[in-house]
Amino acid sequence: MLARCLFAAALVVGSVSSAYAQVEGPKMFGKTADGKPVEVYTLKNKNGIIVKVMTLGATITEINVPDKKGKFANVVFGFDDVKGYESKDNQYFGCTVGRVANRIAKGRFTLDGKEYKLAINNEPNHLHGGVKKSLDKVVWNAKIIPPHPQRGGFPTLQFLYTSPDGEEGYPGKTDVRVTYSLRDRNVLFIDYYAVADKATPINLTNHSYFNLAGAGAETVLDHELQIEANKYVPVDQTLIPTGKVEAVKGTVFDFTKTTRIGERIEKLYETGAKGYDHCYALTRPEKRGEISLAAKMRDPKSGRVLEVITSQPGVQLYTGNFLFGQKGKDGKTYKQRSGVCLETGGLPDAVNQPTFPSIILRPGQTYRHTCVYAFSVE
Ligand code: BGC
Repeated sequence: MLARCLFAAALVVGSVSSAYAQVEGPKMFGKTADGKPVEVYTLKNKNGIIVKVMTLGATITEINVPDKKGKFANVVFGFDDVKGYESKDNQYFGCTVGRVANRIAKGRFTLDGKEYKLAINNEPNHLHGGVKKSLDKVVWNAKIIPPHPQRGGFPTLQFLYTSPDGEEGYPGKTDVRVTYSLRDRNVLFIDYYAVADKATPINLTNHSYFNLAGAGAETVLDHELQIEANKYVPVDQTLIPTGKVEAVKGTVFDFTKTTRIGERIEKLYETGAKGYDHCYALTRPEKRGEISLAAKMRDPKSGRVLEVITSQPGVQLYTGNFLFGQKGKDGKTYKQRSGVCLETGGLPDAVNQPTFPSIILRPGQTYRHTCVYAFSVE
């Protein structure tokens, strides 16, 4: 009974905590252009790490982590207000991407004999779920889920969105759930689930741009990177896979050993990608469904380290090649190649690539995807 009362009290004040880590909110963040309120929640842990997530796009707006001297900085891109997030300057900063992250060639695919047409929003292809109601552009329902032993005794911030049948051209009513849970050992769990009432493609991801020296720092080319992949997905000039999955050995794509991002990137400046914008096919010793390391990135000056761990077969390395100096949060400027995304998920254009792992979700099945951002210093 006492426990029940405490639980109810915690819900009333909008703050639920385990031993240390807690989720606070909601707080008003602003309103969308069409008048919908947008709220923001704050996740905190015992080491002072702060992560903020808002209901527009179930988007991470801030991640504050310490450097090797204990100095905190926000390491992800964002804007000060909703207007910034709704502006053309926003290249998917921190959001949940879907229904299908990455490109779909010519915005078309055929499923069970029926052809579907999607918006062409990245000539000549479809990118990141569409134009109006892609998952980054809708306001999600959020709720704090109190600590539970199954979630390591930590509270969880849950976002729900139901995408109606046919939204952005995708078939089937699809219920999507994204949860964020910050743990005391400085890891942020992002768990995705989806169910649909018709067969439909699904490939969700988080699109945070990291600069471990602090968002707004000049470049990410000095960050050191290691990716757990012997193979990558070659693409054409429009960034659509050629259909092959090739060895990274002896190419500019080899990050099997820790390498500076800028070491060989210039060789890609004249390509359609203008840098790294490629998916790696992860080497996964574990069984499918289990999580394992995808990539480890370190900023040598601050000593901040990010490890990305996932249950998915791929990770897209995108070095912010299309950033153009837009003004972001706290007066910072985001120059070309000053942020890096490590997007966990399926392989690009999987709906049109018969040899890639399928991203089709069928009625009765559940899509599950775990992505963990683990922070430390070295
Ligand atoms: C893609 C880039 C694209 C960017 C948009 C990334 O996931 O791989 O090509 O420009 O998203 O912000």
